[in-house]
Amino acid sequence: MKASVLFQLALVSLTSASQCDPSSLNQTVGTYYVKDGESIAHISRTTNRRICDIARLNRVADAMLPLTTEEELVIPPEVCQPDNSTCLITHHPGATYADCVKGGPHTYYTLKGDTLRYIALKLNITLESLESTAQGDFSDVDAEVQVGDFLKLPQCSPSACSFHSMTFTYGTYKDIADRVGTTSGQIMGLNPTYNHTDVGRGEGAVMTLPHSCELAGSNITVIS
Ligand SMILES: *[C@@H]1O[C@H](CO)[C@@H](O)[C@H](O)[C@H]1NC(C)=O
Ligand SMILES: *[C@@H]1O[C@H](CO)[C@@H](O)[C@H](O)[C@H]1NC(C)=O
Ligand SMILES: *[C@@H]1O[C@H](CO)[C@@H](O)[C@H](O)[C@H]1NC(C)=O
Ligand SMILES: *[C@@H]1O[C@H](CO)[C@@H](O)[C@H](O)[C@H]1NC(C)=O
Ligand SMILES: *[C@@H]1O[C@H](CO)[C@@H](O)[C@H](O)[C@H]1NC(C)=O
Repeated sequence: MKASVLFQLALVSLTSASQCDPSSLNQTVGTYYVKDGESIAHISRTTNRRICDIARLNRVADAMLPLTTEEELVIPPEVCQPDNSTCLITHHPGATYADCVKGGPHTYYTLKGDTLRYIALKLNITLESLESTAQGDFSDVDAEVQVGDFLKLPQCSPSACSFHSMTFTYGTYKDIADRVGTTSGQIMGLNPTYNHTDVGRGEGAVMTLPHSCELAGSNITVIS
């Protein structure tokens, strides 16, 4: 008796936890034309979809970087587990960062919206180590850097990555990086011309994926 009451209680809490009925959601895939200065965060509020769901369907390299005015974005259907955060690259207090990039590349090509601090975060290296090799006037590390410059990166020596060719059809660089043991900054550095607006809807972009990036020894020095 007692056991069956408990069982029923368990069932009730189970159903309320997974109460989402997909057929009650808006399943329409929409299109959205980006207005001047709008970010994915703005568009997420306007369309009632979450940042990472929008970024992934549009294979945006980085959900934080600015969009192009008037570009067409695909608006995903609503989902039971909307995701506003797991594709974002954020600083966690207490996190540790490396002082060099494992396996390459040796340069990073600056994008619209980048700051020196954010580039270091994307590469999972300390700001100080990037400042020491980037070769430029970076007195304000939170100011947007000039677009289209190659910054030199500190490299761990000896270290290595493996490389794959791949077709990028869904997700963000951070999603891929977390899966394969690299960083979104390394993927960006190796694919400097990637621009999600150049890729037709439903098509994938061909890119070079560094993965399994590791130190190759115990006596590591930083070279640049
Ligand atoms: C459902 O989503 C589409 C695409 O974003 C949107 O155009 C439409 O207005 C939404 N419908 C409702 C009832 O909210
Ligand atoms: C998602 O993130 C954006 C930007 O940070 C914020 O404005 C919005 O309220 C968030 N949505 C939810 C449901 O948390
Ligand atoms: C970042 O670097 C630190 C220190 O080397 C390491 O412990 C951590 O796993 C790295 N994180 C990522 C996402 O690569
Ligand atoms: C991507 O391409 C569009 C259209 O050519 C251009 O306006 C935009 O500036 C490019 N974005 C980046 C980050 O290069
Ligand atoms: C570590 O490597 C550096 C640079 O290659 C070399 O000068 C140094 O002697 C090495 N140290 C040890 C303990 O092997």
